[in-house]
Amino acid sequence: MTNPLRVGLRQERVIAPQCLVIFGASGDLTHRKLVPALFELFLQRRLPSEFALLGCARRPWSDEEFRQKMAEAMTKTVNENRVAWDQFAAGMFYEPVDLQQPEDLVKLGHRLDSIDRLRATRSNRTFYLSVSPKFYGSGCRALADAGLLKDPQRSRVVIEKPFGRDYGSAQALNRIVQSCGQENQIFRIDHYLGKETVQNIMVLRFANTIFEPIWNRNYISSVQITAAETVGVEERAGYYETSGALRDMVQNHLTQMLAITAMETPGRFDPEAIRSEKAKVLQAARLADENEPWNCCIRGQYGPGGTQENPLAGYRQEPGVDPNSTTETYVAMKLFIDNWRWQGVPFYVRTGKRLPKRLSEVVLTFREAPVHLFDAAGGGPTANQLILRIQPDEGAEFRFEVKSPGSGMRSRPVEMEFSYDESFGEPSDEGYVRLLADAMLGDPTLFTRSDEVEAAWRLYTPLLELIEDSPWQLPIHPYESRTWGPAASDALMARDGLLWRRP
Ligand code: BG6
Repeated sequence: MTNPLRVGLRQERVIAPQCLVIFGASGDLTHRKLVPALFELFLQRRLPSEFALLGCARRPWSDEEFRQKMAEAMTKTVNENRVAWDQFAAGMFYEPVDLQQPEDLVKLGHRLDSIDRLRATRSNRTFYLSVSPKFYGSGCRALADAGLLKDPQRSRVVIEKPFGRDYGSAQALNRIVQSCGQENQIFRIDHYLGKETVQNIMVLRFANTIFEPIWNRNYISSVQITAAETVGVEERAGYYETSGALRDMVQNHLTQMLAITAMETPGRFDPEAIRSEKAKVLQAARLADENEPWNCCIRGQYGPGGTQENPLAGYRQEPGVDPNSTTETYVAMKLFIDNWRWQGVPFYVRTGKRLPKRLSEVVLTFREAPVHLFDAAGGGPTANQLILRIQPDEGAEFRFEVKSPGSGMRSRPVEMEFSYDESFGEPSDEGYVRLLADAMLGDPTLFTRSDEVEAAWRLYTPLLELIEDSPWQLPIHPYESRTWGPAASDALMARDGLLWRRP
């Protein structure tokens, strides 16, 4: 039976003949996210028949080895779709390339020409830099010097996160990549923007009349943005030790959720209008206490925990982690946005690894009714809340007070819910599916523009400087694995008479 809510949904834009080149093809991201996302696009018949995937890395793999490695990493999907996989894999190639070796770039150019002839990909190329961040600038430069970026209509570069380590390095990297091509050829990826539910924040706000009039300081008393994970650092200590939660999650994913939640209505739905509004809101954002950031930011690190049957190592005991590491795996902070819409409304942001639940959400808490006419269950009426569930249980819910059944006039809170799964009957695509398609379409709406990325880094500069210069002022609070972070984070909220939402 057709789900009426899905009727007319597949009005997809058409991706032009294309070769997608992944640098860092032997890395984790390629087999965990990128190739599965491309195969999903293939299964959805959204890739053109003139499509090729060229994997590049330093390892001397053959085309066949590349195909096999990818198939091994996605055994379940491949086994369920054997015929489709064989068709898809016929368009997969591999070329050993070291981006630092100019002669390798010449070889790459020849290989791309031969793929163009073989697969009719018409010199449309999307280069995906899934390499170590220290090679983003030199990688772009190498592509430009080899003449591979000279046609702005046909060539694009996708750059993974993190884009820079701080404000200064992000500016420097922007200067390099902008000297290699035009801004509209550069796609800085943040996979949170590929999530349906993050995009839905814009639709909810701008396609309905009921939210926008109250989406401001007059009606909203606070906003909480959470990205909680159950996983620990896993095999990524090498990267994570130099990054920490502030750089890994807050500067990018949480800040993008904040920007979309708080931005002004764009004049039209076009990439530049949207990105300008996001950049503006980030430029107006600041730490709640820039002079004494320790008053508005808490850093934590998970210690051991779990159960007797399933004990969990603490961060400092994880393989590859310095036993005295002061890298944070948890951050909570309070921000303000100094503009007419949000002046005085606190935005609380938190993220952490090894928390009890995997959950990302945006919670808008509304002001309380000015007069309490009724008795309320639990002492007082609860403030209305709109909860935008980003993942895993994608949807939204609205909490409001209703009359409790009975002869009195007591109120109690109830929830009204929308669930993507129940309404649309199928799970949303992974963020990378949407973003890879958009990059190949040349649509930058869901990618971060240079000014946005710089504004996001600038916002956290006081914290990054403090951590660098006098880390003892932002101490690491240990928390037990599978708990909701350090007590100091609750105290941050308690000072404002608030609690983190505990779903
Ligand atoms: C990545 C971070 O960008 O996002 C990881 O590097 C994190 O540390 C991941 O686990 C979380 O993404 P998601 O989509 O699972 O919330």
